[in-house]
Amino acid sequence: MITFDAVTKRYPDGTVAVDALSLEARTGEITVLVGPSGCGKTTSLRMINRMIDPSEGRILLDGTPVQSVDPPVLRRGIGYVIQQAGLFPHRKVVDNIATVPYLLGWDRKRARGRAMELLERVGLDPGLAERYPFQLSGGQQQRVGVARALAADPPVLLMDEPFSAVDPVVRTSLQDELIRLQAELNKTIVFVTHDIDEAIKLGDQVAVLRVGGTLAQLADPKTLLAEPADDFVREFLGRDRGIRRLQFISTDRLRLRTDLTVAEGGEGHGDEPWLLAVGSDGRPVGWLARGRPGEPEPAGTYRHGRDSMRAALDAALLSPSGHAVAVDEHGKVVGVATRQALDEALTEAADG
Ligand SMILES: Nc1ncnc2c1ncn2[C@@H]1O[C@H](COP(=O)(O)OP(=O)(O)OP(=O)(O)O)[C@@H](O)[C@H]1O
Ligand SMILES: [Mg+2]
Repeated sequence: MITFDAVTKRYPDGTVAVDALSLEARTGEITVLVGPSGCGKTTSLRMINRMIDPSEGRILLDGTPVQSVDPPVLRRGIGYVIQQAGLFPHRKVVDNIATVPYLLGWDRKRARGRAMELLERVGLDPGLAERYPFQLSGGQQQRVGVARALAADPPVLLMDEPFSAVDPVVRTSLQDELIRLQAELNKTIVFVTHDIDEAIKLGDQVAVLRVGGTLAQLADPKTLLAEPADDFVREFLGRDRGIRRLQFISTDRLRLRTDLTVAEGGEGHGDEPWLLAVGSDGRPVGWLARGRPGEPEPAGTYRHGRDSMRAALDAALLSPSGHAVAVDEHGKVVGVATRQALDEALTEAADG
């Protein structure tokens, strides 16, 4: 656990970057620091590994004040990832990743072995090991940066806007990768971003900071969206707060109908305006409109019980029938969540 105990940082020119900040980053969780430019995120992060020392207050790592630990010793247990990866340009990928093991005096074979293992861990082709950073895409460089930070298996990982220099698609995949990695590794991660969507996606808890370096709110994402502490937080969360809350509502209690499907090529039945054609493999083919022959129209799907209500609602909006198609993890149809069922689930969620 990392504890900020009334930490203030005043730079020599008088700028108060962080003002009496108290918070706890729990062990094995991702704590996100989010807030507008200049609110003291980087300063806070760098005080954890003593790249910057606080003017007042203390930071404790599992109860030990970091001030009492030699920086090199401290940093052995703390991985650090920055924007644009910050790789050493003149070192091959494998040697970049092995930086800390080399510093720790591991022999070359063991260090490189560890680096190769990590390369795969972060989803990179081992064939990239002998390249130089400039021969990689931005997303690949960022993955190498994460691998390098993990090389000595530190319990703590500090990440300062690690994904902000890549395009949205790559960014999404890096975020997904981090979530997957964290499920395996259980590091104590402090993650800095100015992107509230990234904060909500990644954070077990989210600390919203305001300029001047004060804490506006510390909460889990669901609570943050449901109960912003003040106007600043509400504004920072943006307009889609209600829609984004749906991400935290499960679809497992959504009522499904199984009488709205028909085998592909089969005859329609009953008087339902829309029926879902299902292929022999169990996958959805598309919606058929009663009394209107023609090609099936695209069906929006969500994974029942796995995806959130946001995905289910999105699926419904993408279907001409207005119904969402529920599929299992193999993409096979398990039923149809009608507009009415979605409506009931949303009403229930709003009530409780
Ligand atoms: N060495 C320094 N000397 C004086 N002021 C500084 C110094 N480093 C940072 N600051 C100021 O401290 C404040 C907080 O800076 P910091 O870099 O922590 O912000 P940040 O939240 O990381 O911002 P960004 O989102 O732009 O990266 C800013 O007003 C910044 O100008
Ligand atoms: Mg910063």
